[in-house]
Amino acid sequence: MRGRFITLEGSEGSGKSTNLAYVRQRLEEAGIDVEVTREPGGTPLGESIRDLLLDHRNSDMGTDTELLLIFAARAQHLHERILPALDTGHWVLCDRFTDATYAYQGAGRGVPDERIATLESFVQAGLQPDLTLYLDVPVEVGLARAGARSEPDRFEREAVAFFERVREGYRRRASAYPERIRVIDASGPLESVQRVIGVVLDEYLAGHAA
Ligand code: TMP
Repeated sequence: MRGRFITLEGSEGSGKSTNLAYVRQRLEEAGIDVEVTREPGGTPLGESIRDLLLDHRNSDMGTDTELLLIFAARAQHLHERILPALDTGHWVLCDRFTDATYAYQGAGRGVPDERIATLESFVQAGLQPDLTLYLDVPVEVGLARAGARSEPDRFEREAVAFFERVREGYRRRASAYPERIRVIDASGPLESVQRVIGVVLDEYLAGHAA
């Protein structure tokens, strides 16, 4: 049986990495064979593209170049990892996917949705995540948490207004696809965020795992 495709989204400082590990653990405890990966990246070629995208020295990268690099990495990821895993019954848990493109390149950079949708249908040929967990956190809270980390990458150098647009973009996606995208308030303490994630996963597993 084909595996399920679960994605995790969230802005900077939303606790994505910690919660990704938690989702993985919950799925494994449920006896699911899960492959964890990320975007941009997930393959050797994709990770090289990620380096180009995040390198702050590439500050002159054009918006279309950025968009095409993201979809180039995604095409390789689908071809080399995601589709083979799903086809052999593994579940795939991916740290970000195309909702991030609508949020960052669409809402953040101002790329029209139709332009993204054209590449999405070209590269994904109809594939969509089965379930997306979106960790939502007010921009100031997220940036304060993320600010404590290492040197900012090319995206992290953006102004607060950019991250406000990204958040709005994610929230619009969540309203447009309420069945697939579950919004999780990630502003509170980790235990309460994970309690909510646990409930959402249990509900999903009860309905879709068999
Ligand atoms: P990370 O914060 O999850 O490590 O992701 C790296 C950056 O890549 C993050 O700032 C968001 C950005 N990104 C996009 O701009 N568009 C996309 O489609 C994806 C997957 C990520």
